[in-house]
Parts: sequence; structure tokens; C-alpha cells
Amino acid sequence: MKLWEGRFTGASAKGADDFNQSLSFDYKLYWHDILASIAHAKMLGETQIIPKDEADRIGDTLINMLADIEKGNLQLDGAEDIHTFVENELVRRIGAVGKKLHTARSRNDQVATDLRLYCKDSIVSLCGLLRTLINTLLDIANNNVQFIMPGYTHLQKAQPVSVAQYINAYSEMFLRDLERFTDCYKRTDVMPLGSGALAGTDFPIDRRLTASLLSFSEISQNSIDAVSDRDFVAEYIFCCATVMMHLSRFSEDLILFSSDEFRFIEIADSYATGSSIMPQKKNPDIPELVRGKTGRVYGSLTAILTVLKGIPLSYDKDLQEDKEALFNAEDTVRACLTIFNELLQNISFDTKRMRAAASSGFTTATDIADYLVEKGLPFRDAHALTGQIVRYCIENGKKLETLELPVYQSFSSLFDEEILQRVRVGKSVEARKVIGGSARSAVRENIRSITRRLNRMFKDE
Ligand code: ARG
Repeated sequence: MKLWEGRFTGASAKGADDFNQSLSFDYKLYWHDILASIAHAKMLGETQIIPKDEADRIGDTLINMLADIEKGNLQLDGAEDIHTFVENELVRRIGAVGKKLHTARSRNDQVATDLRLYCKDSIVSLCGLLRTLINTLLDIANNNVQFIMPGYTHLQKAQPVSVAQYINAYSEMFLRDLERFTDCYKRTDVMPLGSGALAGTDFPIDRRLTASLLSFSEISQNSIDAVSDRDFVAEYIFCCATVMMHLSRFSEDLILFSSDEFRFIEIADSYATGSSIMPQKKNPDIPELVRGKTGRVYGSLTAILTVLKGIPLSYDKDLQEDKEALFNAEDTVRACLTIFNELLQNISFDTKRMRAAASSGFTTATDIADYLVEKGLPFRDAHALTGQIVRYCIENGKKLETLELPVYQSFSSLFDEEILQRVRVGKSVEARKVIGGSARSAVRENIRSITRRLNRMFKDE
């Protein structure tokens, strides 16, 4: 049965019904729709808008329905949307009393409420996955503080860094993602129920009671805005898109670093794939897929922003398009976070090769310039002079680390024995003791700081 057929004389066309329906995807809201209906029914009973015993009966039946769905005994089909499905089933079970549930409510405030409840739960669950991922990264960082790799800018060797410092960089990104989701949660945690179709309701409902039953921190303050606002969906998908962007960048590094040109890392056989034609191949399909799937989530973000940009106040059916964008982004980011965490636990580092790579490419040239500055040369002059030394090395097939002292001194009398130490990659990394730098003490402090900030985010547990 449709919820709106009274005004109509004829049956609707099958094509129109098929096109209008959303049950094929909004069935995912069943749990939150039923929960919100239980709270609404209880409030209707408490305020005596409907008799209390009838409200109880509605509540009990809804709980039974939920249990039946969970057990697989109630199939979610045969209705326009999840709200219609739940109401139809309720009426089928308890008859006329069930028809009172929709008193002082519209599907417009109902669907906005369901979706906010859904997003709140989803944020909590995605934050759990981010936390797990950061913990994995912290483990890896803890085991690699003393190892050195080349750091890159423009994908050219720049300066040597600590492997742990590099890993921590990703933890910082995922920590920001956690903060972003937490912030998004605050704006999602506002209850629209009680806004009716758009103008509010003339029944003496108790919105605070419903909000507290549903654990909403706040209540919407403008009914027109409340039924049409989907900012929280756009924001949620933006948070997902940013996680994907970070995972995609990480993937790109893993793909590069596992190539024969780098061979810094090796993905365990159980998380790699082969080629159907080239027997020697071991392909990084998982990071490639994560990088590829990032596009989908960006697609969802573009979709929701485009849906929202053109609709007049207040509710318009365009808003039904919010759900697939949301669910698709959620499924993708969940799958990617889960597999990435497993993948990271199955990667080994070739620390010897990384260190060797860090010592070639003149990565300690900046240390020479800094040394000359300490000896009194202005930085620009120090930079130019070091550039000449690098050119000398390129032309004569030498390395900064093994260049003899007299050669250094032929460029400047400011050089003494100490320079031979300063150009070593280990010294270069250790010299950067600044907060956030590559020295072991700084990297350990970074690990502690990440751990602290992570624990603070979950302090209420
Ligand atoms: N399936 C609809 C949606 O997802 C529910 C709200 C319907 N409201 C309406 N006025 N037709 O948006």
C-alpha cells in the first residue's frame, strides 16, 4: 500500500513506481528507521497524543520486526521505500493501531532523522578502522626509527630521512581524518524529527524526549532547513574522499617502492598478484585498486554537491539521490581501510637498499651548505659553493660521503675534518633534532605525540 494514495483516483504506472522507489537501496536504513519510529511512538504515548497502551503495542511490534529482519525472517521488498515498508508491515501485524505511528511526522523529517542516525553510527565505525590503521603504522614506525631512506621532493632524492618519520607522515594524515570525522559528527548529531513536512507540527510533541531517546545532542531549530539539509551527507562524503586521497597517495608510494627500480619494500605473496602471461611478475594490485577506487568516492562527492546545488527549499525528491552516493562512499572507504591495514602488516622493508639509496644522489648537500653557514659564510654563497662541489662530483664520478678533505678544502678554506662526518647520511638524519625532524629523538617524540593525540580522541571509551 502507498502512503499517499487517498488523493489519487487511478493506480500509478509500474514504470513510475519503479523509477520512484528507493527501497532497493534505502533498505540499509531499516535499523535506524525502526529505532526512530520506536522513539517517536514512545514520545506520542508519553505526551498522550496517542493512548499509551497503543504506543507500547506499536513499540513492541517494531522491536519484533527488527528481530525478524535480523534473523532473515522478514524480506525487505514490495514497498516504495523503507519508511513505507516498515509502516505497511506494522499495520499488517497490528491493524488500525499501527496507522497511528505516523501522527505528527512526515517522511521528510523521518528520512532526515534516519540518515543522520545512520551517519553517526557509520562515522564511529570508520573512526575505529582509522584507529586500527594508525596503530599498525605506529607499530611499523616503532620498529624502524633507526633506519634511513631517501626523502624525495619532485620525486628526486632530496635529503635522507628516518623510515619511521616517513611512516609517521601517514599517521598524521589519518589523524587529521579522524579529527575531520569527529567534527562532522557534531553537525550530524542534530535531530530533525518534529519538523514535519517542512513547517513543524501542531501536535504538542516533546522533541527533547525523542532526541534523548535517540541520543541526539541537539535539536534542529528551523523546520524548513531541517528537512532539506543534507550538508552532513556532503561533509561525510568529503571526509571519506580525503581518507581515500591519503590512501591513494600511500598506495602510489607502495607501488613505486615495490618496483624493481626502487625495491625498498616487498609485498608478501599472499597480498600480491601475478600476471597471466609474464611468469616473473608480482603485481601490487591492492594498492592499485585502492588508488583506482578513490575516483568513485570523488564521484560520490561531486554527485551530492551537484544534487544539492539546484534544489529550492525545502524537501525535493532530488534528495533521495543522497543515499547511493553516501552508501557507495562508505562501502568503498570501509573496504579500502580494512584491506590496507592487512596489507601494511604484510610488507617487508629492505632497509639496506633504502640506506644505500639514501647515500647516493648527493642527499647531504644541504648539510655542507649548513656547515659553511656555521663557519660564517652567508647561506646564498654557501649554497652556490656546495653546488660547485656537487658538479665536481658528478663530473668526476665521486660521492659527497667519500670525497677527501683536500678536495673539500680546494673549494674553501672553511672546511676542516668535521665535514667528513657531516656528509654522512646517518649524521645528516641525526642533526635534525628540531621538533618534527628526522633525528631519532624527534621521531620518537613524534610517535609519542601521535599516540597521545590518538588516545585523546578515544578517551570517552
Ligand atoms: N524515499 C524518500 C527519500 O529518500 C523518502 C522521503 C519521501 N518524501 C516525500 N515527500 N516524497 O527522500
